[in-house]
Amino acid sequence: MVLRVEKLCLRISGDGSPVFDGVSFDLDEGELGYVSGPQGAGKTLLGLTLCGYLHLWVGSWNLDGTIELLGQQIEQVDRFTETGVILENPFTQLSGMKRTVLHELAFPLESRGVEPGEMPPVIERYADLFGIQHLLGRNVRTLSGGELQRVLFAASLMTAPRFLFLDRPFTEIDAGFRPELLRIIREHLRETGSTALIAEDPWLLPDCRFDREISLGPHDGEQATAPCPERSVRSRKKPSSGETILDVKNLSFGYEDDTPVLDSLSFSLDGGDIALVTGPNGSGKTTLAKLLAGILHPDSGEIVLTGRSITAMDDWEIMAAVGLSLQDPGLHLCRKTVGEELELAKAWGNDPGPFVGLLGLDRLIDRHPLELSQAEKKRLGMALACGDRRRLIILDEPTQYQDDEGFRRMVEAVGVHADEGRAVLIITHDPRVHEAFPEAGIIRL
Ligand SMILES: Nc1ncnc2c1ncn2[C@@H]1O[C@H](COP(=O)(O)OP(=O)(O)OP(=O)(O)O)[C@@H](O)[C@H]1O
Ligand SMILES: [Mg+2]
Repeated sequence: MVLRVEKLCLRISGDGSPVFDGVSFDLDEGELGYVSGPQGAGKTLLGLTLCGYLHLWVGSWNLDGTIELLGQQIEQVDRFTETGVILENPFTQLSGMKRTVLHELAFPLESRGVEPGEMPPVIERYADLFGIQHLLGRNVRTLSGGELQRVLFAASLMTAPRFLFLDRPFTEIDAGFRPELLRIIREHLRETGSTALIAEDPWLLPDCRFDREISLGPHDGEQATAPCPERSVRSRKKPSSGETILDVKNLSFGYEDDTPVLDSLSFSLDGGDIALVTGPNGSGKTTLAKLLAGILHPDSGEIVLTGRSITAMDDWEIMAAVGLSLQDPGLHLCRKTVGEELELAKAWGNDPGPFVGLLGLDRLIDRHPLELSQAEKKRLGMALACGDRRRLIILDEPTQYQDDEGFRRMVEAVGVHADEGRAVLIITHDPRVHEAFPEAGIIRL
């Protein structure tokens, strides 16, 4: 037996009701478990508790029950070498100490005392497995979301912790690679006799059976919020307004190494149009978003926004007309409360107005933005992109981390934009988005 968990009950101090209670299961060598439960049910906290990392996230708590790893109480285990975690948002997991992908991969080996001469074959093997060899020389801060997730997988698996908690590991991974990723995890567990527990949204899981399934109950501490819209499918297609909002002509762009990321891309969007941008990790979806928002500049081609080339517009004009919600939800946030974030957007001339309630942010107004869940941060990022003067709304993976209710809210918000004659571009790996917008145009990169 690698992991034995008995009657686990966690209470965060100051909060009367337990986060989870009565959790019991075990994992044998090579086994993979799955933890399910609605948003707020405590999946992440369970994983962090099992790894013995709760103290890194929570100030004080009360934990009853037993966690044994390799026959020892978790407190007695060398958690640094025997447990590992892949965090929900990969953008928050970089060591922060290493510049290149190669050094980021060497770091966990270094810190476990592996001799430098023994590292190259290990790094090579895992880089190969995750298809990231071409990225070894790259600055880690320039990777796409999915590329970064693969690097973090390689770094975590190569040290073979006996228990690994994978928190929403498929969120950034393109649909084509998800089954392969699951195969790699299973193969790794079999080979090393380790165990792992996955928390993941069911719609992102490849078809598979788990050795153990743990279900956590609903969280009843939610405060009242604006009613959630019923629609999760935008069935009715409003006619486009006929006004061309965005015209992209022969757009080409590459970063410093001159390999083109986008090559002669052309499309246009009218008011009321919704388009979905899809493509494998690293195919240039986020790059396209940054070009359209004027953050990057094309090598050639033209971007025309409501009849004007954006090269003729200054940053303020572009910002007023184009709303961008970023893939990493933390990057938007710079104020002390959600209310202040929304006020700032208003002060800069774009009032999120009704989208605050629609996106379920009304009950979060006094919260610190960085303390929000990933799902809430995403909805806040979307509200900040939803100002009333914006003509083009670009949403980079907006539905990541959203449960059914959060998803419905986002679908409704997108529908409102389209009905009001804006154009909406949604970058997504989420199969639910394709079902929700059956009439949307598809831009494949
Ligand atoms: N600042 C940068 N310097 C060099 N290369 C970069 C930079 N930013 C992105 N890239 C590379 O450009 C390519 C496209 O990146 P982009 O982030 O647009 O991909 P993506 O389609 O959004 O991927 P994902 O699905 O993983 O989010 C990737 O190979 C990425 O590594
Ligand atoms: Mg991206």
